[in-house]
Amino acid sequence: MASGIKILAEAGHQLDQLDAALKTRADVLAQLGGAEAICTSLLDQVDAEFLDAAGPQLKIVANVAVGFNNIDLAECAARGITVTNTPDVLTDACADLTIGLLLMVTRRMGEAERFLRAGNRWRFSMNLMVGSSLAGKEFGIIGAGRIGKAVASRAKAFGMRIIYTGNHPMDAAEEQALQAEFVSLEELLGRAHVVSPHCPYNPSTHHLLSDEQFNMLTPGSYLINTARGLVVDEDALIRALESGQLAGAGLDVYANEPVVPQALLDREDVVLLPHIGSATLETRSMMSDLAASNVVEVLAGRPALTQVG
Ligand code: GLV
Repeated sequence: MASGIKILAEAGHQLDQLDAALKTRADVLAQLGGAEAICTSLLDQVDAEFLDAAGPQLKIVANVAVGFNNIDLAECAARGITVTNTPDVLTDACADLTIGLLLMVTRRMGEAERFLRAGNRWRFSMNLMVGSSLAGKEFGIIGAGRIGKAVASRAKAFGMRIIYTGNHPMDAAEEQALQAEFVSLEELLGRAHVVSPHCPYNPSTHHLLSDEQFNMLTPGSYLINTARGLVVDEDALIRALESGQLAGAGLDVYANEPVVPQALLDREDVVLLPHIGSATLETRSMMSDLAASNVVEVLAGRPALTQVG
């Protein structure tokens, strides 16, 4: 974005930008040669082929995303290339969108709006588009990192009780402030009215939620996913919706983006967004500024601001 580009230009760096509309893998590879720094998106698979195309002078890959599952960290480390991401600046935007999906799906807002826009005759009725309340229900968070905790505090404001699981329990003060309870994944699935993963995607979280896990849910629960599509086994998700095990799902991410399975598109009880978790003007500007600042620091021989790996 403009402000990030300004940061790079002011530091005296020559910029080569790709027109996103032309951005096939071949276009990208053809344009990388000679770059000392590359700002990538989560669509760019940064692997040996990508790094070879750039050449040995490459010093930094600055991913403009908090997730970095698109980057082969070992390959970058072996070549002495710094990898950075954009944590913190997008936490609130992603947490807000998660709550947006939570409200949309439990209160059937997408379905209700489609119903109205389709010109259906309606008037107030006790039975029209009746959804599910949040207050007093348990919200199950998988992965209580920055975004998980921000989602928890918002869900708590809606009167939900927070249960969570993951590799890292919160510290005692955070847990107390959120009145959150650390439980096993199995217990979380058995208790939660809404399950929401906020863990990174890596081999250990691949299909973390599949048939076995969906079968542990209380029938009529909900799934929200604003993390990564492959944390969820999409076929198993569709089966859980079809069987009624899940009453609905709110999704911002998919296994094979931008493809959304027809079985999901056909359902009224799912809300489908096109991976817009961090898409506010303010957040995208901060992400681009942070990526640009990481480039400036590393090319000046200083430590990156937000290095990963
Ligand atoms: C978006 O999905 C991100 O990782 O920033």
